[in-house]
Amino acid sequence: MLLRNAWYIAAWADELRGEQPLARRICNEPIVLFRDGGGRVGALADRCCHRAAPLSMGTVVAEGIQCGYHGLIINRSGACVHIPGQRQIPEDARVRSYPVGEKDQLVWIWTGEPAQADPATLVDFPYHNDPKTWPNRHDVYPIKAHYMLMVDNLMDLTHLGYLHARTVGGNPAAHVDAEMKTVRTPTGVKFTRWMRNSLPPPSYVKAAGFTGRVDRCQEFEFVAPSTVLQWTGAIEAGTAFADPERDFRFQFRLFHGLTPETDTSCYYFWSVANGYRQDDPSATEQLYQEIAPTFVEDRVMVEAQQARISELGEAGLVDIASDTARMQMRRIGERLMAKELAVAAK
Ligand code: FES
Ligand SMILES: [Fe+2]
Repeated sequence: MLLRNAWYIAAWADELRGEQPLARRICNEPIVLFRDGGGRVGALADRCCHRAAPLSMGTVVAEGIQCGYHGLIINRSGACVHIPGQRQIPEDARVRSYPVGEKDQLVWIWTGEPAQADPATLVDFPYHNDPKTWPNRHDVYPIKAHYMLMVDNLMDLTHLGYLHARTVGGNPAAHVDAEMKTVRTPTGVKFTRWMRNSLPPPSYVKAAGFTGRVDRCQEFEFVAPSTVLQWTGAIEAGTAFADPERDFRFQFRLFHGLTPETDTSCYYFWSVANGYRQDDPSATEQLYQEIAPTFVEDRVMVEAQQARISELGEAGLVDIASDTARMQMRRIGERLMAKELAVAAK
């Protein structure tokens, strides 16, 4: 079951441009996304109100989207505004339109009850708009797994030492023994992990030229239902500092947003922002090239995990000590789902 009353990412802002609309299935619904002549984003059910052709096979025009079959034009609010060879437009010539919000280079969509869609609750990630301090690069990966399996992955970092040993991992024992502090936030849960006096992983050495041990810190903030905001930094072990986010000479930020496509597939929207060699475009590119394959490693694992769950179910799986933050995150999602089901049952 998928939580419907929530903002999910539909696209990166720069995916919507030009004449070509973007087709995406979100929460099991076929949706077409586009930017009209005024630059405003439209998200419509991907089915023309004439003969059900997918609107995503049409063309973006100034007023909205023009169906590629017989030329009806539908605007971003879902109203048909033009029928070739006909003046009168029937009132019921309409397509369902979804609430959308554009913020910090992301386009969000609400597939639940439209009246509950509050733009004030869109996730903040202003770093995407600050290429001077946080030069960044983004991507989207389709993944054949339930979206929460990827959120699980992000909320349990003990996998780094095993699954990502060759890149961002580092020593598995340092991950398992990391000092970990978890706090609730109004919108989710946040944890901070310290790995003091640890060996820097190969990608840190490449990016920042560490020659000895480092004090390494990671902050992960889960924002329900499926966004994770990450800050990561390192400094030569034993260096005095007051505030890691200000004082660490090596640091980067990652944005992770998971959107359900179906019950067993999702989109993984992610970005990486360089906070250590901002004047050097090759540093951002190098960081991206380091991180991208680690997320492919995650994708391969969660897809394999989904295949087993689809075949054998989840009965008999156990939770271990390192699942604490992940389980808190899951409980927040379960509470939201219970609330949604209770309202629907009224
Ligand atoms: S099906 Fe869209 S115009 Fe006919
Ligand atoms: Fe990972």
